[in-house]
Order: sequence, then C-alpha cells, then structure tokens
Amino acid sequence: MNFKRFFICCAISSVLFNVSSHRTTPEWIHNAVFYDIYPSSFMDSDGNGIGDLNGIISRLDYVKSLGVDAIWMNPIFESGWFDGGYDIIDFYKVDPRFGKNSDVTRLVEEAHKRGLKVCLDLVAGHSSNKSGWFKKAAAEGRDSQYADYYIFSDTIPEEELIHIQKRNELPNPEIGKRGKWVETYKVLGKAPDSFDKRANYYWKNFYPCQPALNYGYADPDPNNPWEQPVDAPGPKAVRRELKNIMAYWFDRGVDGFRVDMASSLVKKDQGHVETIRLWQEMRDWIDREYPGKVLISEWGIPKESLPSGFDVDFNMLKKRPGYAEIMWGAGHSKEVGDNAYFEKSGKGIIKNFINEFESDLDSTRSHGYIALMSSNHDVNRLNSEGRNLPDEIKTCFTFLLTMPGVPFIHYGDEIMMRNVRGLPNVEGSREIRSGTRTPMQWDNSESVGFSTASHEKLYLPTFTDNGKLTVSVQNEDPNSVLNHVRNLNSLRHKYTTLANDGDWETISDPEHPYPWVYTRTGNDGKFIVVLNPCNKSSETTVDIPGNSIEKLLGNGKIDTKYTKKGLKVKIGGLSSAVLRVR
Ligand code: GLC
Repeated sequence: MNFKRFFICCAISSVLFNVSSHRTTPEWIHNAVFYDIYPSSFMDSDGNGIGDLNGIISRLDYVKSLGVDAIWMNPIFESGWFDGGYDIIDFYKVDPRFGKNSDVTRLVEEAHKRGLKVCLDLVAGHSSNKSGWFKKAAAEGRDSQYADYYIFSDTIPEEELIHIQKRNELPNPEIGKRGKWVETYKVLGKAPDSFDKRANYYWKNFYPCQPALNYGYADPDPNNPWEQPVDAPGPKAVRRELKNIMAYWFDRGVDGFRVDMASSLVKKDQGHVETIRLWQEMRDWIDREYPGKVLISEWGIPKESLPSGFDVDFNMLKKRPGYAEIMWGAGHSKEVGDNAYFEKSGKGIIKNFINEFESDLDSTRSHGYIALMSSNHDVNRLNSEGRNLPDEIKTCFTFLLTMPGVPFIHYGDEIMMRNVRGLPNVEGSREIRSGTRTPMQWDNSESVGFSTASHEKLYLPTFTDNGKLTVSVQNEDPNSVLNHVRNLNSLRHKYTTLANDGDWETISDPEHPYPWVYTRTGNDGKFIVVLNPCNKSSETTVDIPGNSIEKLLGNGKIDTKYTKKGLKVKIGGLSSAVLRVR
C-alpha cells in the first residue's frame, strides 16, 4: 500500500470510529417496511393527468392496507422538470402541480392518523439551474450572496479535459457532455463573448441542468481557485442552508428524508472522508434539534453511510454487483437476463450476493439497515422482460419481504405492474426509466382510476393486461400478487424475527442455488424460507434441528420431511414458502 492510500485508510477508520455509535434509531424503523411513491404517477385529484398530494391523501387507506409502515416520496418541490423533480428550483416550496405547502402538513397528519410515517426526498447535492440561487450566483458575480453556493471556473480544468479525451466520449444529446463542466452562458442565455460575470463554466452533478452545490473540496489544490476547503464561507453557508431545508420540513411534521446521491457532496473526497464528516455533523444536529427523525441514503456502501449517521442505506444495483446479479443477471442492468437468479430459466447464481450481503450485515448491524428494493423510479420493475409470471413475482416478494434490513416496495410492483420498454422520455426519464414511472393502475376504466383525464393525457401510458394488473381485480383474488404481498407484510409484523433485525443464514448449498434455503432466527423462534424461482421442481436436504415444520405462507407446492440426513425439502417450480420450525 502506498503512503497516500495508507493515509486515506487511516482517515476513513478514524472518521468512522468517531461515530455517534450510541445513537438510537427510532423504534418504528426496526420493523418498518417502506412504500415508495412517484408523486406524478400515483393519483391525480384534479384531472390534469398528473398525480398530486391530494391524490396521495385520498389513497392512504390503500397504502395502509398493504401492511407497510412508511412512505417515501420522490421530490415534490418546485422544479424545472428536466429530471423528474430532481432539478429543484425552490427547496422550500411544493411544486404547484402537486399542491401547496399546507398539503404536505395535511398529508403528514392523515398518514400519522393511520400509523404511517412520511419521508421526503432531500436533493442535497444540487439545485436546478433555474433556481434563484444559481441565477443570482451566475449573473451577479462575486457580489452575490450566493456567489459561492456553486463551483465555477473560467476554464475547464486540465485534468478534466484529459479525462474526457481519455474516455473518448462524444457528447450525449440526452444528458449533455459527459464531463463535469457546463457552459454558464447557456443558462444565462447570453453569447459567450458578452458573458463577463461569474465564470465561464460550472460543475454539474448529474444532468447539465443540475449545478452542484458547493460543499467544498476534501483536499483543495491552491492552484485551482474554485477548489475551496470544506470550511470556507461558501461551503459553510451551503451546509447551513441544508439544515434550514431539513428544519423547514421537519417543522411541518415529516419523519425523515431519503437523501439523493448522498455520497456526492464533497468533491475529490477519496474514501468519502469529508462527506462522512459532513453527515455526522448533520446527524448530531438532528439528534439534538429533531430527535427521532430518519435519514435514508442513496449511497450504496452501507459500511460508510450507516456510520455517517444514516439509518438506512439503499442497496444500489450498480454498487452491489451481487444484488444486481440475482435480480438482473450478471452483465445486465437494464433488463432481466436469463442468468438472473430470479428468472424461470434456473441459470442464476447466489454465492456472490450471499458473500456481499453477509459482509454488509456483519459490519453494520449496530449502525442501521440495508434497504432491499423491489425496484424504484430509476430501476426496472420486477415484472420486466423475461420475468413476467405471477409466481415469479410472488417468489421475488417472498425473498424481499423475509430478508433482514428495511424493504422498499415501489408503487405498483405489488400489483405486478409491467415495465414496458420503448416509452417516451418524460421529464428526463429517458426510455430506461419511463417504464417504472407509469401511472398507478387502480381499476380497468379508461384512465385506470388514476385520473379523470382521458388516457392520452396521462403522464405516461398504462398497461393493465386486460385489467389483470389493477388493484380492483387483485383485491378480490386471494391468490393475487397483491394479497401475497399483504400476507407477507402481516407475517413480518407478527413475527419480528422475520423482520429487520432477526439473524439470517443460508443453510442450503450456495453452489446449488435451486432451491435456496435460509433461516431467520430470533426472539420468536426459527423460520425457514425456501425459494425456487426456476420453472422445474427442486429438492435439497438441510441440517436444521427440530421436530416439526409448520407452513406459514407460500406459493406453489412444498413437501418437507425429517430424514436421518436432515430436513428434506422438495419444492415445485416457481414456488416459495415461509416455514416455522418447532
Ligand atoms: C438520483 C435519483 C435520480 C436522479 C439523480 C440526480 O440517483 O434517484 O432519479 O436523476 O439522482 O438527482
């Protein structure tokens, strides 16, 4: 290990050691299941074809009926709508398409009456280039109060140019140039030669419309004047603003935030050392001023994010290859490959996921939770490409809702909504994200009970497969995916061992993953989960002491028998079961 790497490792260990490890996460998160809502697509109350807060309020009884405990909503703030609400113009104001600020207070009250918590989305790393802060910072130059809210430079730094050339990347018309620096004059609408204000370029976080907020640089180079230290006045003002935003919404009763791109805040921050310190500061402040509030990170490295002060970290497909492999198959991130574990061909592998998950779990147990998601507004739905049978989706849910950590159900996955490809790009969804953002399918009427607007005016098209993929039809069918999800959630709440904290161990042979058998062990006993997502029956013998086996829930057929060699488990194709050992 060279000296620099050694130094960074020491810095990471010391910052992680410095954690408020005695912090107690709020009680409710220990058994929580989340439901995530893309607000433009859940329920439209005013007939314009786009969802809104009143619509969500009108469907809270349904959300409650799923047996979930909390909702997370994607951004609801005033936005330029070039990235599905993640390009925020005003962090303190609800976008008029969704309603008013007072509707948030009402939504929270109505949710709390039903025992549901509400988390908003905190886009900490960037604003819209249409925000007042950015326009002032760019147009008023150094005199602006917001001059250092963003990172500006007159030239594209040498290292970035080299980087762009090395990757030989052509500008992508949908997301702009791949490099980090964007021409400021384009935002101000002036020609470059008449532009003499703040600087020629700004640093973007994701799309060009999303200038990065300036939290400073971990190791600023004095030759690069735009690289300010984390405690320079600009970065400090941005931190204060971040606290103000959180305080504003905490004061309106919200229970926490999911933090967008939470690891991206401090630039050139090897090992995220300074970003971790920043979040530790936020956590200490929250625990003092707003105890009991929850922070969920889009980070994907739970060993870093949880000791930083987050309660839950998203297990992101890109950063956790073992997880991506079981859900989508090795080498696939946009569709379900036939080597996904959860796919009927039976060609998947689980050992990488098991190693990855065990290691994450062991090292983070005392800090918080890993979140496994059915999908989300960025990631394809469960019912996608080759994975399309009700029993396949049920088997996925048996897995997701019997694993430790905090499960997230993406709205509509519980009724098996289908990820259709080739849909239009709406508000920055690009084709790959449109399929997971289509309107919630409540019934089989023309506009699927989502809106009174005609079908062609809806936010995105809908696909009910002749009404089968709707709430109204699945409500009536005791064997529907919807009722399977409800049954799993009630089991998870009845036996907390099956919930977020119980021990987890694979007891079948990971080299022969069909069926996959794991145990959950805790205060209320020992449970076995058996998964067989391939379309042929399979069997195995596992070593598990006990006298009898009780089947609590499942789809498909399962036989179990104690033999001299252990418990023999035989399960049909596309089946799953939750068993209790007595
Ligand atoms: C996060 C969001 C994604 C958004 C991006 C930029 O990854 O989940 O939807 O486009 O951040 O804010």
